[in-house]
Amino acid sequence: MSKKITGATEKATLPLPSEAEVAARVEALVGRMSLEEKVGQLTQIGAADFVQGPKPEDVIRKGGAGSVLWLNDTKQFNALQKLAVEESPSKIPLLFALDVIHGYRTIFPVPLAMASSWDPSVAERAQTVAAREARAAGLHWTFGPMLDIARDARWGRIVEGAGEDPFLGAAMASAQVRGFQGPFLGAPDRVVACAKHFAGYGAADGGRDYDPVYLPEVLLRNVYFPPFEAAAKAGVGTFMSAYMDLNDVPASGNRFLLRDVLRDEWGFQGFVVSDAFAVASLVTQGFARDGRDAAFRALSAGVDMDMASNTYPQHLAGLVQDGKLDLTVIDEAVRRILAIKVRMGLFEQPYTDESKLAQVIALPEHRQEARLAAQRSMVLLRNEGRLLPLAKSLKNMAVIGPLADSMEATEGSWMVFGHTPAAVTVLKGIRAKLPGARVEYAPGPEIGRDIPSWFDALNPEAKKAPQTPEQAEAAFQMAVAMARDADVVVMVLGENADMAGEAASRASLDLPGRQEELLKTVVALGKPVVLVLLNGRPLSIGWAAENVPAILEAWEPGSEGGHAVADILFGDANPGGKLPVAFPRKGSHAPLYYARNLTHSPEGSMMYNPRYWDGLPVPLYPFGFGLSYTTFSIANLKVAAPQACTGACGPGVKVGGSVAVTADVTNTGPVVGDEVVQLYIHQKAGSDSRPMRELKGFERVTLEPGETRTVIFVLGPAELGHWSTNAGKWVQDAEDFDLWVGADSLATLHADLAVVR
Ligand code: BGC
Repeated sequence: MSKKITGATEKATLPLPSEAEVAARVEALVGRMSLEEKVGQLTQIGAADFVQGPKPEDVIRKGGAGSVLWLNDTKQFNALQKLAVEESPSKIPLLFALDVIHGYRTIFPVPLAMASSWDPSVAERAQTVAAREARAAGLHWTFGPMLDIARDARWGRIVEGAGEDPFLGAAMASAQVRGFQGPFLGAPDRVVACAKHFAGYGAADGGRDYDPVYLPEVLLRNVYFPPFEAAAKAGVGTFMSAYMDLNDVPASGNRFLLRDVLRDEWGFQGFVVSDAFAVASLVTQGFARDGRDAAFRALSAGVDMDMASNTYPQHLAGLVQDGKLDLTVIDEAVRRILAIKVRMGLFEQPYTDESKLAQVIALPEHRQEARLAAQRSMVLLRNEGRLLPLAKSLKNMAVIGPLADSMEATEGSWMVFGHTPAAVTVLKGIRAKLPGARVEYAPGPEIGRDIPSWFDALNPEAKKAPQTPEQAEAAFQMAVAMARDADVVVMVLGENADMAGEAASRASLDLPGRQEELLKTVVALGKPVVLVLLNGRPLSIGWAAENVPAILEAWEPGSEGGHAVADILFGDANPGGKLPVAFPRKGSHAPLYYARNLTHSPEGSMMYNPRYWDGLPVPLYPFGFGLSYTTFSIANLKVAAPQACTGACGPGVKVGGSVAVTADVTNTGPVVGDEVVQLYIHQKAGSDSRPMRELKGFERVTLEPGETRTVIFVLGPAELGHWSTNAGKWVQDAEDFDLWVGADSLATLHADLAVVR
C-alpha cells in the first residue's frame, strides 16, 4: 500500500512507497541480477580525467557501475543514464554523486562558518538550496555533511565541519541532513546526504591530514560519534567510511565502526561508501595483503560501495566463486543500494530536464538566503571604541589585502567540481554599499602555499606564476601608500581557499606571507583600521587582537560574502555569530578545546602551575565567543526542583528524568541584536572524571533594545549521562553538577544541580 505523504516544505504530493513495497521491488531486481551486475552496483566509478581505467561508457553499458562521481554535466548525466537504463543488462539507473558541501551554484558560507551562526536553521536552509540546485543539475547524492569533530586547527579539514563540540556538531548534523534530504528520502528537489568521514578523522596525529588516529572508546562515544549518531537518527541515507587508521584499523576496514556501532547499535539502514580509493588504500596502509584481501576485508567490515578504487569489480566475483565470500554478504549490500535508488524514484524518473538548472540557479531567493546565512555566520571578535559600524557617509576608504577582491577566498574551500567562482568580494560589497565614495583597492603581496597540493591540478588559480620578491615589495609599498591616503582602512587578510581543506594542514596558524607585516605597517599610520578575516580555520592573531581596534571573522562566506561583510561593517546587519572552535594563541597549542578535564592543579587554585612557561595556555578567543553592536545581560538562572524533593534537597532531577533550566536574556544596548545563550554543565564526581564544561543547550535569540526573553533548556538523561570508561557502558550517575549559562564558554552565571536516585 502506498501512503500519500506531503512533506512540510514540499508542494507536491508524492506516492511514498512503503517499506514492504521497497523490499519487494528490491528483491525482484536482485533475483534477476548476475553476480557481475551485483558487483557493479557496489562499484562507484570516477568520470574525471584524472581517473585511470576503462571508459565509463563501457563499464556502464555492461552493468559494471552503480554510481558515478566527479562529473558535473547534466547532458552527460543523461547520456550515461541512458546507457544504464536502456542498454545495461538489468537496466538499473545510476546514482550521480558529487561533493556539494556548501552550495552548488549559489555558494553558502563554509560549514565551519555556518556552525558559527549557532542557528541550525541557517544550515538547513542552505543545504535545501544546495540540494535544489544540485538536483536540478542531475545530481542525486552529495558527500555531505562532513561531521568530523575537529579540535586541532592545524587540520585543514576543520573548515568542512562544525568545529570542536559534539553538541553543536550534532545539531548542525541533523539540520544539514534535513536540508539535503527534505522530510523523507526521495523528496522532490532534494538529494541523498552522506555522513562523513566515519569516524575520528578530525583527530589526526599532529593535525596532519590522513595521519593515524588513536581515540579511546570514551572519546569516540562522548565526543566523536554524536554528530554521526544524530545524522543516523535524522535518517541520513548514506555514510562514508574515513581514510585513516583508527586505533590501528583503517576506518574503511573497521568492523567495529561499520557493523557493531553503525548497524547493530544505531540501526542504520542505508548504505556505506568508502572514501575515494580507500578500499585499495587498505593495501597501501599496510593492512590488507593485496587488492583481493582489501576487497574482502572492506566488504566484510561493512563498506557497501567502493568509491573509485576499482577493487570490488576486480575481486569480489572471484572471491564468491572461490567460496571465500558468501554471496549473501554481496546481496545484502546490493539491497541497501537498490533500496535508495527505489526511494529516490530513479526507476520512474532516471533523467533530468536539461533546462531546469538555468531556471533554478536564477532564483533571487537563493542569493538572498546566501547573504543572510553569511551575515548570521560572521563573528565580531573585537570592536574597541565602537569603531564599527562605520558611517555610510564615509567618502574616502582603502580596502587592502590579497583576499579583498579574491572570489576564490570568498567562496572558499571545497568548491563544487568544475564550478567557476562567482562571488561578490569584500571590495565589491563595500563599493556597492558606498556608491558615491572613493574606495581604493590594493592587494599587497600575494600569498600562496609553500608546498603545492595535488588538488592544484584542479584549481586554475594555483597555476598562476608567483610574484617575484620585487613585485611583492612594490605591491606592499603601493598598499601602504593607498592606506596613507584614506580616512578608514579595511584590511582583508587570512588564507587562500586552498590553504584549508583536504591535504591542507598547517604547522603554524599565523597569517601567511607578509600579511601581518603589512597590517602592522598600516596600523602604524594611525588610521582607523578594520580587519576582516577570510579563512577556513582559527588563526593566531595575537598581535591584531591587541592592536587592531575592530576585527570581524567572516570565514569563507560564499557567493554573497562581500555584501554580507559590507552589511555588517556599515550596520545594516548586527553580527551575532559565535566561535564554534577556540582560537589558540599559537598553532603549537593545538589541540586546544574548552571541554577538557580538570587537572590536579587547576587554574585559580593555590597550587596552580602554569602549563606553558612561555605563554598563556588558554585560547585567545574562547569557544562560543562573539560580540555584537549591542550589549546583553543574562541573569536569573533557575533550575526547577525535582519531583521527589520538597524544598530541602535543592534544585535537582531524578536519574532518568528531565529538568528545566531557565535564564533571562535582555538587550541592554541601543540597537536590535542577537545573543546566543549557552548552557554548560560539569559533573563534579562520579564513575569517571568529566570535562570541566560541556555545552548542553544553546539558543540564538533576536531582541529589540530593552527586550527580555526567558530561554528554556531541558536537561535529561541524554545530556546528563555519559559513556563511562569504568563501567564500559552508558551511565547516568546520581551526582552533583555545576551549571553555567552565559554568552560563551567562560560563562560565570552559576547554579547547582543535584541528580538523585
Ligand atoms: C574526500 C571526501 C570526498 C571524496 C570524493 C575524498 O578525497 O576525502 O571527503 O567526498 O574525495 O570527492
